[in-house]
Amino acid sequence: MNKVIIDEDIVLKGEHLSIVFGGLKAVEDFNIEIKKGELVGLIGPNGAGKTTAFNLLTGVYKPTSGNIYLNGTNVSRLSPHKRVAKGIARTFQNIRLFKKLSVLDNVKIACNSNMKYSPLTAIFRLPNFWKEEKELDRKAKDILAVFGLNEVEEEYAVNLPYGKQRKLEIARAIATDPKIILLDEPAAGMNPTETEELMETIKIVKEKYDVSILLIEHDMKLVMGICERIIVLNYGKIIASGIPEEIQSNKTVITAYLGEEVE
Ligand SMILES: Nc1ncnc2c1ncn2[C@@H]1O[C@H](COP(=O)(O)OP(=O)(O)OP(=O)(O)O)[C@@H](O)[C@H]1O
Ligand SMILES: [Mg+2]
Repeated sequence: MNKVIIDEDIVLKGEHLSIVFGGLKAVEDFNIEIKKGELVGLIGPNGAGKTTAFNLLTGVYKPTSGNIYLNGTNVSRLSPHKRVAKGIARTFQNIRLFKKLSVLDNVKIACNSNMKYSPLTAIFRLPNFWKEEKELDRKAKDILAVFGLNEVEEEYAVNLPYGKQRKLEIARAIATDPKIILLDEPAAGMNPTETEELMETIKIVKEKYDVSILLIEHDMKLVMGICERIIVLNYGKIIASGIPEEIQSNKTVITAYLGEEVE
């Protein structure tokens, strides 16, 4: 019923999204379309509304107005959990992992949302449970290999160095079999070498898993280097969008960033 006819190349569409927090228009008339396999950057000064836009797209916040579509289906009324099942995954600005679970279990739990056996099968450890458990194990280990996290699969997530925790978060997002991943400052707190390595991993992941990526990142140089297209937010509104070269020379964008520094 909620199916609408749109370009089938468009994985994620946000249409006229707005949200107000106690009088503050945190995001206003936000429109976005991400195509299959695209890597798009979402940038803007602190407090511009980037994370809020992610929260609207993924269902953490209900928009005051507007709609969200995943592969042409209107998901505006679906919970975050149900949207994950429709193919959208994300990571958070502040790392969210099961600290006292192993690296491997962190990924397996993320895969688990797609498990087919019933709770009784799991409780009584019926044959189907073991079969699926084995498949799950292999899937999780394959994902960890892509992120170079195999050697630390038995470690508690909390004991990993920061950069690896960030990678584990993305690995968990991939485990849900998404069509699109939203990454909220995945390189925050990393040193330049770690950051560069992470960006390489992101590119590899995009190709290997055939996912689209929407990336929030403060490091302009980095965003310009990796993204095919960039959207700039300021005070909740899109002030520019285009290829990196266009954004780099856009006067409104430059003023928005310089204005922030002067403050
Ligand atoms: N739950 C909330 N309640 C009230 N105000 C909020 C809430 N979430 C965000 N805001 C406000 O909305 C605006 C946008 O915040 P948001 O976190 O989306 O910015 P951001 O672009 O992600 O910034 P940063 O680069 O610092 O992460 C800010 O003014 C913020 O204080
Ligand atoms: Mg943010």
